[in-house]
Amino acid sequence: MNFNIAVLPGDGIGPEISIQGVDVMAAVCQKFGHSVDFQYGVVGAAAIESVGDPFPEETYKLCKSADAVLFSAVGDLKYDNDPTAKVRPEQGLLAMRKKLGLYANIRPVETFSSLLHKSPLRPEIVEGADFVCIRELTGGMYFGEKYQDDDKAYDTNAYSRHEIERILRVAFDYAMKRRRHLTVVDKANVLASSRLWRKIAQEMAPQYPEVTTDFMYVDNAAMRIIQDPRFFDVMVTENTFGDILTDEGSVITGSMGLLPSASTGESTPVFEPIHGSWPQAKGMDIANPLAQILSVAMLFEYFDLKNEGAIIREAVGASLEKGVTTPDINESGRRYGTREVGAWIVDYIRNH
Ligand code: IPM
Ligand code: MN
Repeated sequence: MNFNIAVLPGDGIGPEISIQGVDVMAAVCQKFGHSVDFQYGVVGAAAIESVGDPFPEETYKLCKSADAVLFSAVGDLKYDNDPTAKVRPEQGLLAMRKKLGLYANIRPVETFSSLLHKSPLRPEIVEGADFVCIRELTGGMYFGEKYQDDDKAYDTNAYSRHEIERILRVAFDYAMKRRRHLTVVDKANVLASSRLWRKIAQEMAPQYPEVTTDFMYVDNAAMRIIQDPRFFDVMVTENTFGDILTDEGSVITGSMGLLPSASTGESTPVFEPIHGSWPQAKGMDIANPLAQILSVAMLFEYFDLKNEGAIIREAVGASLEKGVTTPDINESGRRYGTREVGAWIVDYIRNH
């Protein structure tokens, strides 16, 4: 395959982990005889500073014409502490998702046996947990009508039948490829939008007789993730709930720095870590590059290149077992830098 990849490093630790993702992708392409061309674009605070727009037209065009986007992170303290800022780095990420029509965000929550001791949960609870959250990504409160003055503010949690059907379709299909258990997470006891989700899911379920479909309120789901994470196989939920539940899901695996995601839909797919830009750690060479590197594995798998994905997963597993890890995981013993971990994984790929 000839890959054209748009690389968007963004802010904070983004550029540091981006390099590791790019190096790993290049190494895998070399090993398996693919060619790859990386083109770089600006996004987030970096783009606000340089061109005044968190998702400039030029970056959009770059993404549009690429086969895939390798995205890192956006966000900066300067904006976090200023609720009156007119443009925010996060708008770059949201604009990218919306303009590329990336309505389905796939967030796998997998545990690594060598990291069980790092989980805040007891090992016997978290061991073997393996679920995927399918998060709706271009609707709901993130994009509904907003209003804000000094006395009143609101965000609208709007969903159309079309938006709900297409994300549920992705979720049912995903469940068919896994353990055939789908949990639709909503707040149908309170929210009208959730009741429409539930109605449509009930209409669609008979088309998937092999899938066990159940419904769970989001508060209950939040509890169940820490009480009994093995319950879940595929969960599907709206934008806001999915944002919150996947942060929760990520920490039960031992570190937030481990989880990748794929955002897919109408145009170029985007592969990105689920964590943020961690501006406090910028330039310190301590950020865990594994979420970014595993995003590259998801990229290959998206194109049905299973062996390419598998060698990355094998290398990541080996690095964790050998203790070649950044300080978020390695409290005692030798701490490896972002670059060292990336280089170790590249070496592993070359030699196996
Ligand atoms: C994520 C992030 C984003 C989101 C932010 C940075 C806008 O938290 O990808 O989960 O809320 O979707
Ligand atoms: Mn989030």
